[in-house]
This record gives sequence, C-alpha cells and structure tokens, in this order.
Amino acid sequence: MWEVVRSLLRPASGDVGGLVEAAPAARLREVFRRFWPDARPFWRWLWLSLALIIVTPAVDAAAILLFRALVDDVLTPRNFAAFPPVVAAFVGITVLVGMLGFIGQYLGAWIGENFLHRMRTRVFAHLHTLSVSFFDRRRLGDTLSRLTGDVGAIETVVLSGVIGVFANLLKIMVFAGVLFYLDWRLALASLIAVPMFWAAARVFARRIKVASRDVRQRAGSITVVAEESLGNTTLIQAYGREQAEVDRFAAQSLGSVHAELAATRLGAMFSPLVDLLQVIGVLTILGLGIWELTAGHITLGGLLAFLVFLSQLYSPVQGLGQLSTSLFGAAAAAERIIELLDQRPTVTAPPHPTPLDRVRGCLRLERVSFAYPDTTTEVLNQISFTAEPGQTTAIVGASGAGKTTLLKLLLRFYDPTAGHINLDRIDLRDLDPEALRANIAIVLQETLLLDGTIAENILAGRPEASEDQLIAAAVAADAHDFISALPDGYDTRVGQRGRLLSGGQRQRIAIARAMIRNAPILLLDEPTTGLDAEASQRILTPLRRLITGRTTIVISHNLLTVTDADQIIYLGNGRITDTGTHAQLLASNNQYAHLYHLHHSPTLAGTATSVRNGVLT
Ligand SMILES: Nc1ncnc2c1ncn2[C@@H]1O[C@H](COP(=O)(O)OP(=O)(O)OP(=O)(O)O)[C@@H](O)[C@H]1O
Ligand SMILES: [Mg+2]
Repeated sequence: MWEVVRSLLRPASGDVGGLVEAAPAARLREVFRRFWPDARPFWRWLWLSLALIIVTPAVDAAAILLFRALVDDVLTPRNFAAFPPVVAAFVGITVLVGMLGFIGQYLGAWIGENFLHRMRTRVFAHLHTLSVSFFDRRRLGDTLSRLTGDVGAIETVVLSGVIGVFANLLKIMVFAGVLFYLDWRLALASLIAVPMFWAAARVFARRIKVASRDVRQRAGSITVVAEESLGNTTLIQAYGREQAEVDRFAAQSLGSVHAELAATRLGAMFSPLVDLLQVIGVLTILGLGIWELTAGHITLGGLLAFLVFLSQLYSPVQGLGQLSTSLFGAAAAAERIIELLDQRPTVTAPPHPTPLDRVRGCLRLERVSFAYPDTTTEVLNQISFTAEPGQTTAIVGASGAGKTTLLKLLLRFYDPTAGHINLDRIDLRDLDPEALRANIAIVLQETLLLDGTIAENILAGRPEASEDQLIAAAVAADAHDFISALPDGYDTRVGQRGRLLSGGQRQRIAIARAMIRNAPILLLDEPTTGLDAEASQRILTPLRRLITGRTTIVISHNLLTVTDADQIIYLGNGRITDTGTHAQLLASNNQYAHLYHLHHSPTLAGTATSVRNGVLT
C-alpha cells in the first residue's frame, strides 16, 4: 500500500536532456524580498485593495448574522412583521458585496497586469544588456519561455500571493472572532481541527515545489525543440528529417505529460485529504452543537449561523493551503527569472569611459589572444597588425581559422584574453561599447534583417536620417531600382529575417544600411558568400563605394573582393602566418596561391578578370 502511495508521490522521472538551464533553488522569501521593491509604484493601489479586503469579510459576517436573526426572530416565533427589515438588509448587503467585489476584482487585475507589464519589459531590456556570448550559449526557446511564461510567477509571489494570504488570514480572524462570540466552547473545539491542515499542507508543499519546477522546465524544453525545429523547416524538409523532429518533439511533450501528471497527482491527493479532515471536523462540531443546543447555551439560529461561519472558516484555511502550493510553484518559476536577471554582461563599459566622437579609424591589435569563455583552446593566438585610417585590410584563411572571431573582438562582443586592441590609441576596454559601435558599420554573411519595412531596415543604420539620405544610400547600394519596382516600394515588409527578399537583395539592403550609417570603420564578413557569381559581382560595385574612405576589415574566401586590399593577412589556425599585398602573397604563400586559384579556375577566370578590370581596379 505504502509503495503505491510513494510511487504516486514521486516526481516525474527522466531528465530534460540538458535543453534548459537549471535554475538554482531560491526561497520564497528571497523571491519576495527581491521583487517587492519593483511593486513600489503600485503600493498605493495595493493598500486600497487591502482596505477593500478588510471590508469584505465584515460584510460577509453581517450577512451571516442576519441569517441568525432570520431564524430566531422570524422563523422560530413565526413572526412575519419582522421579515421586511431582514429582506431590506439582505438586499442592501448583497448589493454592497457585489459592488465591493467588482471594484476589488478589477483593481486586483489592474495592479497585476501593470506590474506584469513592467516586469516583462524589464527582463526583456535586461536581456538586451547581455553580451552576445550569453545568446551564443543559451537556447533561445528557453529564454523565450521564461520571458513569456515565468515572469507571471513573480506577480503571483509579490502581488496576488500577498493579497491572497492577507485576505485569507483576515477572513480567518474575523470568522474565528464571531465563532467565539456565538459560543466559545464550540469555537475552541472547532479550532483544534485547524492545525491539522497546516501539518498536511507542509508535508505536501515540499514535494509539490519539486514537481512544479519540473513542469516549468519541461514546458521550456518543448518551446526549445519547437523553436529550433520550426525555425529550420527548409533544412528539415530538404533532408527528410520530419519524422525525427516529430519524435524529438514528442519525447519532450511526453516528458511534460509525465511531469504534469506527477504534479497533478500530488495536488489531487492533497485536496481529498483536506476534504476528509473537513467532514470529520464538521460532524464533530455538529455533535457538540446539538449538545450545546439541548443545554440551552445557544439558540437554533445561533447554531445554524455557527455552522455557516465554520464552513466559511474552512474555505480560507483551505485557500491558504492552495495558495502555498501555487506560491511554491511560482517560486520555482521566479527562480528562472532570477537566474536570467543575475546574468551580467561579460563586456561592460568602464566607470569612466574615455569620451569618443567620430574616430579617425586607426585600429591596432597587439599580441591579441582569445579563447571563448568556458573553453581552453585559443581561437586567436598573438595576433598583431595595424589598420591605418581609410585603408582596407583583408583577412583570409581556412574555415574555422578565427576570422569571424576577430571581428567579434573588434566589435567588443568579447574582450581578448591577452593583448590589446586599440582604436586611435585608446584601448577598447576604456571605451563605452555603445560609443565604439556607433563608429562601426557591419555587413555580415548572414544578412541581419528585422521584420519591418525596407525603409526601417535601412534606417536602422541611422534612425535620424532624412528621406533623401535614405534614397541616396539605397542608390549607392544599387538597391534603389529593385526597391522601387516592389509594389510598396520602401514600405514593403521584408518578412521574418528578410525571407521575402533574395539573398542578393538582402545583402544590398545591408550595404545601404552600412552606407547610411556613414561610420569611419567598416567590418565585412564574407559579404559575397552564399551568392552566385552574378549576384556577388553585382554587389561588388556598391561594396566598393562603401569601402572608399573607411578603415575596412574584410573577410572573404572569395578573393575577388580582396585583391586590391592595402594589406592581406593570412590566418592559419588562429595565427598570422603571412602578411602582404595580393601580389606579394601570390608569390610567397602557397596556401594563398592555392586559395586564389581555387576561386579562379578557368571557368571563373573570365568573370574574375572582367570584374578586376571593370570594378576593382
Ligand atoms: N561562440 C563560440 N563559442 C565557442 N567556440 C566558438 C564560438 N564561435 C566560434 N567558435 C570556435 O572558434 C573557432 C573559430 O571560429 P570562427 O567563426 O572565428 O571561424 P572563421 O574563420 O570565421 O570560419 P568560417 O570561414 O567558416 O566562417 C572555431 O573552431 C569555432 O569552433
Ligand atoms: Mg566566419
């Protein structure tokens, strides 16, 4: 028998496959202490709603006492004359209860929703302060489910929870007071049953907390799998991975079912137990009440009113029990928010950043080494070079050599583990990252477009730019013609991640964005990869315009874009293995020459030459 009960109470087994980060266990009190100050703007309204809560049980008590008057003054003496005032009082009280109920409910929802809105926005804003490294490490779906789901838990702990506990305690006090007023012996006997609820509640609360935490984590892993899977439908369908993905999703979904069932089992076992205690309690009191009635210590109306009060008393006690269950559940969810809020950006502005306006754009790397956080392999090793203002530095090297990583350091998404990066002789660490990035424009291989209009996407480079500047940038980026041909022109929506545009069109919008930013430093990461020969050739002209006059660091496999760079740096395995101009490297570096001839095989040679003659030189 015990075995069965124990197995019923066991939380769901199996792990969540490391899909979601476990959050450290936080105490309910800590959750409260941490977020209570955030409710400050609502304290005033909270007091008002507490005041309403004080009135409500008093009115309830009056209604029940009226019931005693009905029995003792109207029904027992069969006195109709006393009926109308009782009716009037009943109607009055009902209307009052209704009004108070409306105000209380609406006020509660108003406070709760507004608090939720602030918290949600705060967590979201916090996420944007975090360094890129955070998002490299985390599953997006897990973070999203915390933002949309778990934030509500804080509201439960800080507001609804507080109001609920207060309201229930108050009801217990008022009703218990009236019980003693009606018959203190009976009252004493009935209140002995109350502590039993507490004992039962405490035993279960712990297990329920564990189960609820599991439920939240499971919900997170479902979102994670769905997000990854639905975000990659092209890949999945092309490779026929649908069934595998469905299985993966089903496994997480089933995990959620088990966790949910485990939590429900615990919850469901709890309430019948409480019910049983309640029935036993009421029957005992009824027996004692009959004895008191025959002894003449209480009237019939008094006894009936007593029983009504008693049933009213058990409901707030039970309410407290349920509240503690939901509060522990909420604490588990709040832990996941706390874990997010406790994340600190790895890259921060110094307390007194060196002021920076428009820079000249002299970038100097001195013996820069770098390993990603929590890894030991050095992705970059003792890199030193200088990019003079207005010059173009090309970085080439095999896949995985560390080229993109170098750009991330220049954008200060990470700090070097050793060495320095200076901009106009100032260490990047002495600058406010925002001020640094204001001087940089980027065009990446995977074009980053936001789900908005074309105009919005270009203006992201410089929101205050005028319409003329917008069009000038688009013209320079060779994008104006295709944009004008679209039905809505600049107001055409690009779809999520720019799906509604072709790769080359996306890239030209990215160039227009970099163009309008007009920053002294330009970082290009494989701007032509992913495009076919014709499309890449097409964006070379606008790229060329963009590069002119800026300190440019360009990464490219496609050596077309780099042949006329002022210096070319060959990265091999995180080290600089060679530096020079195109002609120098072609003569001295076998790997470079190999890479060059790879892209300039006879079939491509024609294109390459014409481009070099027509555009690049
Ligand atoms: N966020 C990360 N955390 C840990 N390691 C990383 C991270 N990003 C990249 N790496 C590792 O750093 C190395 C260099 O990656 P990087 O993206 O800089 O290469 P790359 O030269 O740009 O290659 P490609 O030409 O293929 O774009 C790789 O071995 C990669 O596995
Ligand atoms: Mg790369």
